[in-house]
Amino acid sequence: MKLPFALASRFVAAETLEKTLPVVAELNQDGLHVTLDLLGEYVKERSVAIDATKAYVDLLDRISKAGLNCSISIKLSMVGQKIDMSFCLDNVRQVMEAAKRHDIFVRYDMEGSDITQSTLDIFEEMYPDYPDHCGVVLQAYLHRTADDIARMCELNARVRLCKGAYGEPASLAYQDMDVIRAKFVGYMQQLLTGARYPGIATHDDKLIEATKTFAREEGIPASDFEFQMLYGLRPETQKDLVAEGYNMRVYVPYGTEWLPYYSRRLRERKENVWFILSTLFKR
Ligand code: FDA
Repeated sequence: MKLPFALASRFVAAETLEKTLPVVAELNQDGLHVTLDLLGEYVKERSVAIDATKAYVDLLDRISKAGLNCSISIKLSMVGQKIDMSFCLDNVRQVMEAAKRHDIFVRYDMEGSDITQSTLDIFEEMYPDYPDHCGVVLQAYLHRTADDIARMCELNARVRLCKGAYGEPASLAYQDMDVIRAKFVGYMQQLLTGARYPGIATHDDKLIEATKTFAREEGIPASDFEFQMLYGLRPETQKDLVAEGYNMRVYVPYGTEWLPYYSRRLRERKENVWFILSTLFKR
């Protein structure tokens, strides 16, 4: 069954790139940086992974031609991570060559714990050749993240820090939100002092305040890091942060494969469910 896009339109910019680019331009006009995410994940067929690789390369060409302030976020599981490692590496390299040519940054989104290690392996494979054009995501809820943060600081890599959005077992991930918040704060402090231009990805006021306070106390300029939020969530707060002088990047998903992303957003907060239900009944 194909659900109507109207359901997802609070969190997803559009189903096509043509309709998404004006959304990016508008966000840029408000002083917001953007990262574009072509939706899709866990591809099992080579032909689909090849198409996704071409779509990412095309996306980089289009962003460059349009002159937008925009990076991209990619899912390695879309370009063959679950099929074959060397096939995936070839595909990622094609994307990275285009990114370097256009001087556009590529973030490797972090997915479920079954592919955390291979995502970091692929990043470490690419990083020496594209140190200014690729970065990873680390999830504060995973037990292993303490070690991964230390490694990324050692590499002086660019990391997006988030809580983590996938259902993970207690053997691998903290389940208690206060513990996850405390971990997030510790990692944020390590990244702000020990790594390059971290992205602090959260809508959580406590974590945003903790970041501002730490940066102020340590004399870390606002230009040395950025906040990141998802398209459709807290748009006024996003603009407020820009007005306060912070860098703010909005993660803008687009494309027809929006159902898994949309489901994760609904799971996160019951307010999101109410919003969607209310859109069902709006004309
Ligand atoms: P959370 O949803 O836990 O909310 C905590 C508090 O924040 C609330 O109690 C409320 O006070 C405030 N709040 C939140 N939303 C609000 C709203 N709409 N209005 C008012 N107050 C609100 N995950 C992953 O596993 N891999 C990835 O690669 C990424 N990438 C990513 C990029 C970006 C830019 C973001 C922002 C997030 C991700 N995530 C992610 C998702 C992330 O792991 C996490 O699931 C969500 O951001 C939800 O956690 P938060 O910390 O944002 O707040």
